[in-house]
Amino acid sequence: MPVQTLRWADSRLFILDQTLLPGECREIELARLADVWEAIKALRIRGAPAIGICAALGVLVSLRESNPANLDTARQTALAAADHLATSRPTAVNLFWALDRMRRVANAATASDPKEFFTALEQEARSILDDDKRICRAIGAHGAPLIEEGTGILTHCNAGGLATAGYGTALAALFTAHEQGRRFSAYAGETRPLLQGARLTAWELVNAGIDVTLLCDNMVAQVMREGRINLVIVGADRIAANGDTANKIGTYGVALLAKAHGIPFYVAAPSSTFDLSLADGSGIPIEQRDPGEVTCGFGRRTAPEGVRVYNPAFDVTPAELISGIVSEHGILRAPYVDSIMGRV
Ligand code: MRU
Repeated sequence: MPVQTLRWADSRLFILDQTLLPGECREIELARLADVWEAIKALRIRGAPAIGICAALGVLVSLRESNPANLDTARQTALAAADHLATSRPTAVNLFWALDRMRRVANAATASDPKEFFTALEQEARSILDDDKRICRAIGAHGAPLIEEGTGILTHCNAGGLATAGYGTALAALFTAHEQGRRFSAYAGETRPLLQGARLTAWELVNAGIDVTLLCDNMVAQVMREGRINLVIVGADRIAANGDTANKIGTYGVALLAKAHGIPFYVAAPSSTFDLSLADGSGIPIEQRDPGEVTCGFGRRTAPEGVRVYNPAFDVTPAELISGIVSEHGILRAPYVDSIMGRV
């Protein structure tokens, strides 16, 4: 059973607070627009598909919170909520893609009152959520054949159920291969500074009964040289038209190491992660985060006061380092400009 990352019940939005994992599994309600924005910014919910879905539902939260008196006010409220939520995080394009879908419905709605308007938007948000579950399964089905009996697979950050509404993207391939009865060894890079690999990926894989070994990020080269890794699969936050891929900081380094060791490097992502408005990865905005995440991760200070910190949350892996992109439509291969244009 995939983890329940978020749910919409009786017009209320609940998420699993991922900042507490793996120590505590607590669901919280996001009852106000400000809660939704904060939850995305603070990574209580994170992962490209999940923040898109959460933001779409956040538009509904804002309508419920403000209870607009007429249709015009309802439309203004929804559009303003979408604009506000779009400022929460810059890199994962799924956020903007989902909010654009909500904006389109808000602008086109011919509802006669705020209640009907809410229903139209609710339908759209639900369909974003339900589609994500199906898409994750399809990515899992296309990715699983990459994993043979005995494969050693490295992943970075968390592209599991916690990053989506369902089954994950990169981890969907592992979950599916596991369901199909193949035995393999997963390696999770811990993913400094916020440890999504250690706290979330390792947690999901242990819970699924998959053999997983946790590595500090700086161990990857050595472990590859020892021949323990035959395949790398990671998720993505934004993929440009040429296949250049933004993902969690450290992914680019893993891709270079994979190339140096002759190990195939795959990206798994839904088509909502493609940004065809960008010819290549140079235009992908890279989120800069609070220095405190590096100097004082999870409460304990590990660097001197006053030290300068650089904390980019993502990097861009050039398309030439990517063996294939596992999408819901199958595995896309270079030249990505052609394979992506035909499918997305
Ligand atoms: O900062 P995060 O935790 O939101 O970063 C998430 C990632 O980089 C994931 O690998 C990516 O969003 C893919 S999720 C299916």
